[in-house]
Amino acid sequence: MSKALDGVRILDFTHVQSGPTCTQLLAWFGADVIKVERAGAGDITREQLRDIPDADSLYFTMLNHNKRSITIDTKNPEGKKVLESLVKKCDVLVENFAPGALDRMGFTWERIQELNPKMIVASVKGFGPGPYEDCKVYENVAQCAGGAASTTGFDDGPPVVSGAQIGDSGTGLHLALGIVAALFQRNTTGRGQKVLAAMQDGVLNLCRVKLRDQQRLERTGVMKEYPQFPNGTFGDAVPRAGNASGGGQPGWILKCKGWETDPNAYIYFITQAPVWGEICKVIGKEEWIDHPDYKTAAARLPHLKDIFAEIEHWTMSKTKFQVMDILNKHDIPCGPILSMKEIAEDESLRKTGTIVEVDHPVRGKYLTVGNPIKLSDSPTEVTRSPLLGEHTDEVMAELGYNADQIATLKSLGAI
Ligand code: COA
Repeated sequence: MSKALDGVRILDFTHVQSGPTCTQLLAWFGADVIKVERAGAGDITREQLRDIPDADSLYFTMLNHNKRSITIDTKNPEGKKVLESLVKKCDVLVENFAPGALDRMGFTWERIQELNPKMIVASVKGFGPGPYEDCKVYENVAQCAGGAASTTGFDDGPPVVSGAQIGDSGTGLHLALGIVAALFQRNTTGRGQKVLAAMQDGVLNLCRVKLRDQQRLERTGVMKEYPQFPNGTFGDAVPRAGNASGGGQPGWILKCKGWETDPNAYIYFITQAPVWGEICKVIGKEEWIDHPDYKTAAARLPHLKDIFAEIEHWTMSKTKFQVMDILNKHDIPCGPILSMKEIAEDESLRKTGTIVEVDHPVRGKYLTVGNPIKLSDSPTEVTRSPLLGEHTDEVMAELGYNADQIATLKSLGAI
């Protein structure tokens, strides 16, 4: 079957996490992704967090599926020429170097346009233009600068970063969308363009609801669905809301049977207004259905703590999966706290290709997260990440170099 991005060639100059997540998605949609790495070293993640000596790490393999790898020393004059031929042949150059690195290599936007006016140049940077534009940035820096950390955690504790890599993988997703949009626009303009996704902006986009709450707080001084209401205090900035849903349907994480020994024996419980009557029946508090303190969503807000304590009495008598089964029969929204072990063993996630087992010639079999976006006419087949320089000869031949020229360039250390 054909793929959505068949025929699109990506010059993948990305490293670490944010850029590679973007190009991996494009590869899964069918683009030919040619990853350019430094000879002898490659993407730094190949050797970071290694669990098997001398094998590419899971960090690398899980972010670089379905790509080809070519090694080029882009600071070597002959290597630069090879990169120039790649620029001429590709549709998109994706990079996430520190600010200015591409320019220092001699590949300014102007130079790239000269070589290939149709080229789309897509970049992840830590910050957009402004006081921090020259800063190097990693995941947690972006989570902090994008508003996620100040609004995550509990009121009586410090800011907390999330396990979800919203700064890196989140920005990679944003960039992928920008690239696809630019490719679409190129169909009518015939021109390339620059695409920028700043990590701070990406995180802030995902924290949109917290900027909403900032303005609500400034107007009213109080947010009734936050745990600070009614007995705590609000300052002048959005506070950390613990496990409150932060939306119109109050929720909280509640203990389930086994919580004393299992750190993940919990369930997220949402007191969705339309099923309030069902909730009362399930937990045996029918008297709350028409009680003036509990009957309406607004009346319940000052009593949320007591309500969740009462629901927790009920959830603690059942495992999280029993709670899930019972509540779903009543259309009550809830979600078990799943550990990574439980997710890795989940049969249904494997059936849909969201969890995939991949075989690698050096490290053997490992699990990865497949493409979370499913296209009915462009199915994803996850193939292993490339070894360093595995496709150098193949790509060089496609660029028109013969075997002697390739050997010479290797002897010069250019590729
Ligand atoms: N041949 C020769 N040189 C190469 C090369 C190649 N194939 N590939 C990269 N290089 C060089 C670059 O030109 C750069 O050289 P310079 O500093 O002399 O200009 C150098 O390698 C290092 O690149 P840099 O991006 O600065 O790497 P770093 O390890 O110092 O910084 C980051 C890593 C992630 C902090 C930085 O790249 C960054 O801030 N990126 C943007 C934000 C981002 O994506 N962050 C999240 C990463 S998950």
